[in-house]
Amino acid sequence: MQNSDVITHDVIVVGAGLAGTWAAMTAAENGVKDVAVLSKIHPLRSHSGAAQGGIAAVLNNVRPVAGTGPRGPLEQIPPGDDPVDSFDLHMFDTIKGSDWLGDQDAIEIMVKDAPDVVIQYEHMGCVFSRTKDGRINQRRFGGHSAPRANFSADRTGHVLLHTIHEQALFHNVKFYSEWYVMDLIIEDNITRGVVAINVLTGDIKMLRAKAVMFGTGGYGQAFKVTSNAYANTGDGVALAYNAGAPLMDMEFVQFHPTGLYRHGFLMTEACRGEGGYLINKLGERFMKKYAPDKMELAPRDLVSRSEQIEINEGRGVMEDGQGIYLDMRHLGREKIMSRLPEVRDLAIAFAHVDPIEDPVPIQPTAHYSMGGIPTTVDGEVLANANGDLITGFYAAGEVSCVSVHGANRLGTNSLLEASVFGRRAGRAIAEFVKGGAKLHPVPGDPAEKNRKMVQQLFDNDGTELVEDIVQDLKTTMTNKVGIFRDEEGLKSALDEIHNLQERFKNIRVMDKSKRFNTNLSMTLEASHLLTFSELIAAGALNRQESRGAHSRTDFPKRDDESWLKHTMAHKDEDGRPKFSYKGVTIYWDRFPPQERKY
Ligand code: FUM
Repeated sequence: MQNSDVITHDVIVVGAGLAGTWAAMTAAENGVKDVAVLSKIHPLRSHSGAAQGGIAAVLNNVRPVAGTGPRGPLEQIPPGDDPVDSFDLHMFDTIKGSDWLGDQDAIEIMVKDAPDVVIQYEHMGCVFSRTKDGRINQRRFGGHSAPRANFSADRTGHVLLHTIHEQALFHNVKFYSEWYVMDLIIEDNITRGVVAINVLTGDIKMLRAKAVMFGTGGYGQAFKVTSNAYANTGDGVALAYNAGAPLMDMEFVQFHPTGLYRHGFLMTEACRGEGGYLINKLGERFMKKYAPDKMELAPRDLVSRSEQIEINEGRGVMEDGQGIYLDMRHLGREKIMSRLPEVRDLAIAFAHVDPIEDPVPIQPTAHYSMGGIPTTVDGEVLANANGDLITGFYAAGEVSCVSVHGANRLGTNSLLEASVFGRRAGRAIAEFVKGGAKLHPVPGDPAEKNRKMVQQLFDNDGTELVEDIVQDLKTTMTNKVGIFRDEEGLKSALDEIHNLQERFKNIRVMDKSKRFNTNLSMTLEASHLLTFSELIAAGALNRQESRGAHSRTDFPKRDDESWLKHTMAHKDEDGRPKFSYKGVTIYWDRFPPQERKY
């Protein structure tokens, strides 16, 4: 291997969203001198920046005004008054939201670290919205029993990402912008580095490191309608799986109830947190049928299912009946302009509707992947269900599964999870590197192997176009592995995915140039989409129950006796997934499983 082809760092972080940047910044802050972040897009376009409504933490800055009911106005809590929120309540809401599949030790850590991480953001200069007396403002969110979404209008992810990115630069973290990772090199259960393509030049390099951390985000792009950025093609989960790591709970995919109709862009849950209603074609606030207590602020799995039932039973809006109205008119101009300005702009630009004047058409949108690379609470990647580790490999944020979200995530717990576990991974990486971690030799020449693979793609005189394969996959995943699932649909989805994997072998890459070859990037991304989609469908077929976001019409009940366990998928020798299962950590004396009603 030529030296100019090899780049070396102590730590390589892949992904520049909140989890990755927190890990990189914290490792550097804790004394690791040589930390690099690779991002396939500009780091500040990472998808964390698209999160809108808030980051959860028990701060007890606001409370409902006494006597106004569960959806009434909020006021700041005068210093010295009794708190309304607690760690136990945040834990309970998260556990119940997860349909008891979240690991309660991890949830406890997340909840207890939350105030500290939010205050750290504040000390780093993050621009939060404020109460009248200058404290961080808080709003309600779905499935949370107290106002604990700390926010910056409806651009919370954006301000958090900019804040942590600045700090990473301050700590001399090196960013490789528009470098796309193609391969993760693990040999004998020890991580050696990654192979990446510099998208601008087309050069493919081996990057060696003592520790590799993945914060590569989720995979909503497997579905037709999604709130996710185009970049969210599940590269991290697919690369880890192909390198021999297991993936956990991949069957759990969250649909957010309010994606802009047809486009899927996020209309933040804060629209409902601030008091917005969901209305069907008959003008009914239908959530009273499905969640009489929490109404529009029930958790996302429940609200999305309710919307889909309304649509399926002919009470949807718009010409094709596939929409629902999000009505915010009663909130008034001042509140919409101050709390939801970005949402208003999006609605005007893309749906030609001003939420101040008219209801906004929305529909459920693929939003979040609860499953991912299994880790410890310090971001160390598990090698198997027994809890053995892969040396030098770390993950946090949406690509990982620690698991705090279980079968369904609560809104605002994602920015929190990415920050808390990104920071914890950064600390663990610093300890690992400073504790004498080595740069391990790289077997063979992985960069050359990847160059040959690209050349083969260019030389392949196939007839299939990547756009067609991806569109067919999205249709299959949406129709058969979406909000509602059943055996027949899942089996047929698996057949179709296998067929698409075969078609992919006959692909033709039209653009064979080196510089900024987006046709090549899309092709590599498509191979990742096809890899993990098989795991979602196969895991969903195996799981014969309904839990959280996984809703089987043929097994409509949760079945704790058989299925209170995590799914682990390994790539078998024949290239197909092999499944095993792992117990859930439950504090039986504090939060034992119970019926989930809202
Ligand atoms: O609705 C939202 O603002 C999204 C937040 C989240 O997914 O946590």
